[in-house]
Amino acid sequence: MALTTTIALFSLTPSALAFGPRHQYGPGGWGGGRYGPFGGGDDNDDGNAFSQFAGSNFANYLGDREKIVIAHGVLASLAFVVFFPLGSILIRLGSFPGLWLVHGLFQIFAYMVYIAAFGLGVWFVNNIPVNLIDRYHPVIGIVVFVLLFFQPILGLVHHFQFKKYNRRTIWSYGHLWLGRIVITLGIINGGLGLLFATELGFFVPSQGQIIAYGVIAGVMWLLWVLAAIIGENRRARSRRASSRSRRTSRSRRISRDSSSSLYKETYAHHGYA
Ligand code: HEM
Ligand code: HEM
Repeated sequence: MALTTTIALFSLTPSALAFGPRHQYGPGGWGGGRYGPFGGGDDNDDGNAFSQFAGSNFANYLGDREKIVIAHGVLASLAFVVFFPLGSILIRLGSFPGLWLVHGLFQIFAYMVYIAAFGLGVWFVNNIPVNLIDRYHPVIGIVVFVLLFFQPILGLVHHFQFKKYNRRTIWSYGHLWLGRIVITLGIINGGLGLLFATELGFFVPSQGQIIAYGVIAGVMWLLWVLAAIIGENRRARSRRASSRSRRTSRSRRISRDSSSSLYKETYAHHGYA
């Protein structure tokens, strides 16, 4: 499924990009641009930017820029629509020794993928002679980038506290809820990125690509929410079972067989540890 999703995500990136008929800066499109740098601009900086890119280098420049935008969109979407949700579903539904470590390493890998996408996004912003920092898409992307930094720390502290006290602590709730909020924000920001690209007009994504992103991202988010609900229900059930087990073993009425099956249920709840 990951492969199909990956292929679909690649298809989300504007394929008939820079020089297609829809492109604002394609043949015949000069001067119509909203952001003057490549013609039609209304301040002096824009004029300089144009002369800098004018001539035969201009096509190369747009080609490189196109690759960077595609790489940015694909990597960031993979991180938020595929990797982070998969890592979160895994910790909820999986039950094997060392699951916490697999989740942790997988999420750190997803973060590294986003770091690469982030670098490309920042490069792109710095290379457009328009102030973009007051736009929702890059600003949300930066906020998400900073908040994600705390996730591995919270996750690690949660894990060791959990081992010590055998229950969730404030660190656990911090990790769970910051993770849920940040990943959801990232998924939404991918959609905003596509709208932003449409607004900028350099490499306009098609309506189909925007719809495909919405559908894949929405399905992935719902699967993750479902996994979180199933995981929390299992956890509540096993907590009830283990407190029942404590009560019954205190009154020494428990048989050997049922005691071992209760242990298994409890292990499923502690499975990630
Ligand atoms: C960028 C890095 C990370 C992100 C974005 C992340 C995200 C998440 C999310 C969203 C959940 C909750 C899943 C759900 O129910 O919706 C979760 C749970 C968990 N994470 Fe992470 N995580 C990261 C790194 C780590 C690391 C490094 C560790 C441990 C070393 C870790 C340990 C755990 C554990 C043990 C749980 C289960 C908590 C519980 O059920 O009480 N995470 N993580
Ligand atoms: C949650 C994080 C992010 C996600 C999921 C994301 C995703 C996307 C996507 C899917 C696109 C459309 C690309 C295309 O049309 O092929 C896009 C465009 C863009 N992104 Fe991001 N992005 C994120 C963060 C950032 C950050 C941090 C920056 C810069 C600081 C940034 C700058 C841009 C710019 C300038 C564009 C427009 C490119 C164009 O004109 O076509 N993004 N982003």
